[in-house]
Amino acid sequence: MTTVSATEHTRRDFLYIATGAVGAVGAAAVLVPLVTQMNPDASTIAAGAPIEVDLAPITEGQVIKVFWRGKPIFVGHRTKKEIDEARKADLSKLKDPQADQKRVKEGKDQWLVLVGICTHLGCIPLAHAGKYDGFFCPCHGSQYDSSGRIVEGPAPYNLPLPPYEFLSDTKIRIG
Ligand code: FES
Repeated sequence: MTTVSATEHTRRDFLYIATGAVGAVGAAAVLVPLVTQMNPDASTIAAGAPIEVDLAPITEGQVIKVFWRGKPIFVGHRTKKEIDEARKADLSKLKDPQADQKRVKEGKDQWLVLVGICTHLGCIPLAHAGKYDGFFCPCHGSQYDSSGRIVEGPAPYNLPLPPYEFLSDTKIRIG
């Protein structure tokens, strides 16, 4: 009759444990570089982070340009005339009909926040230019109104709205 001694048990168990440990270390060593590659680096985090914009220095009628996620963002302080023009527009004549009220935050009609990239082929339109007191893209002549809606030219859509919220009456956070 063959018996297994306590010493053999111990040696065999140790071998199993040791092999298992190597396997676990090997798996961990493979996982670490993958996880490291999947984490965004500091500059990517910074580029995608929300930005805060102080509205106080932007005078009525002025449009400033800031950058968020590498994109130009127009922040405009509209005059009463610009708001009235935007509200009077005949939506049935617009290519991408959208009420001006849907393009601003409630009670903050004077503040227009847009992604400043022409929806035709991506040029940066000029503010306070063109025929509609809004934005004009010099690349192929797209004309946007004072709500950033496309009125004339080859651009198919209105200037997009970035995600943003008011933190106070004079501060917004974009992103
Ligand atoms: S890119 Fe603006 S009109 Fe063509």
